[in-house]
Amino acid sequence: MRIGIPKEIKNHEHRVALSPAGAAVLIAAGHQVVVQSEAGLDSGYSDDSYLRAGAEIVTDAWQAWGQELVVKVKEPQQIEYEYLRGDLILFTFLHLAAFPELAGVLRDKKTCAIAYETVQTDAGLLPLLKPMSEVAGRVAVQLGASFLQKENGTAFPGKGCLPCAIGTAPAMHAVILGAGNVGMNAADAAAGLGARVTLLERDEKRIKQLQRETHKNITVMHFSHDCFYSLLPDCDLLIGATLIPGKHAPELLGRSDLRQMQNGSVFIDVSIDQGGISETCRATSYDEPVYVEEGVIHCCLPNLPAAVPQTSTRALTEITLPYIQSVADLGVDGVIKSHPALQRGINTLAGEIIHPAVAASLSNKVIR
Ligand SMILES: NC(=O)c1ccc[n+]([C@@H]2O[C@H](COP(=O)([O-])OP(=O)(O)OC[C@H]3O[C@@H](n4cnc5c(N)ncnc54)[C@H](O)[C@@H]3O)[C@@H](O)[C@H]2O)c1
Repeated sequence: MRIGIPKEIKNHEHRVALSPAGAAVLIAAGHQVVVQSEAGLDSGYSDDSYLRAGAEIVTDAWQAWGQELVVKVKEPQQIEYEYLRGDLILFTFLHLAAFPELAGVLRDKKTCAIAYETVQTDAGLLPLLKPMSEVAGRVAVQLGASFLQKENGTAFPGKGCLPCAIGTAPAMHAVILGAGNVGMNAADAAAGLGARVTLLERDEKRIKQLQRETHKNITVMHFSHDCFYSLLPDCDLLIGATLIPGKHAPELLGRSDLRQMQNGSVFIDVSIDQGGISETCRATSYDEPVYVEEGVIHCCLPNLPAAVPQTSTRALTEITLPYIQSVADLGVDGVIKSHPALQRGINTLAGEIIHPAVAASLSNKVIR
């Protein structure tokens, strides 16, 4: 199959969907790989390194998009909609519950769109979401700690506290909603900096397992609205890390709840890619990463891993490569017949939104 790798164009997106080593593997398996010039540069991969792997380098986006299978990192941006078509297989992060317009375009253009985040094993795991969630959890804490500083490089000064305790000055309190891949990595990073961490989770089995395993600075509790709201006055850093696969993030926080938090505290909503957990959340970009609502600094970056492309690209492409090869080897019909995990990843096909949770989430939102 002919596989295209366009350069990412989302704001400050520096990752690339395939490494030169990955290109070599696909080419050895009999596929052709077409990479847009400089697509890998920010991840540490020159055009030459792709050429040496046997890939073709093209200068224009439409040449990369013109292949049978296009592999990307982020969802197509509006100016990329013109490249979508009925004989295209698109394999990328999509998060369609948060992008009804894109869902409508993919459906109308009859594109077969496979979303990394809904590729799901028989055991219910989301293998392609995991590495970027691990990165995002850690970046969220690094950013959160810096936004809490009085001098933080934005127009909005933070409370001015350090993550760890010094003398009688207490450690920062981080409250994290969701103890999955993002939540656990954020908890580990925050506790590693010396913060007090409270993790709220709704899955009883997961809570029991974590209560046996976690670091002494981390308290794992069952999520309830009352418990969550009671923590807000003492919360310096709030991190949204929930997921219900394919669905809009659960809306857990209203404007009046936020008023319980102190001025200059920080809210990083990692779940923004699924629409966010608060009515005050709207996606930000690295150009303007934060805004303030009710005195609380909000950071809602949908592409946190883009800040560390050298780590993120490696972690992502190692995991996606075998799945990319399966799509290229099998084609859409083969995926549907013989690869259940990838088949669960298909969001749109032949003019329909076919992923059940995505379809349910979008039932009132997609323009018909
Ligand atoms: N912004 C970014 O750059 C970025 C990067 C990676 C992942 N994400 C997003 O982060 C979110 C979390 O991803 P993940 O990989 O950790 O998912 P995950 O499935 O590993 O974990 C999510 C956890 O949330 C829990 N949960 C769901 N509803 C809850 C509720 N009401 N209260 C408490 N817990 C609840 C689930 O039980 C689960 O344990 C997803 O929306 C994902 O798309 C964002």
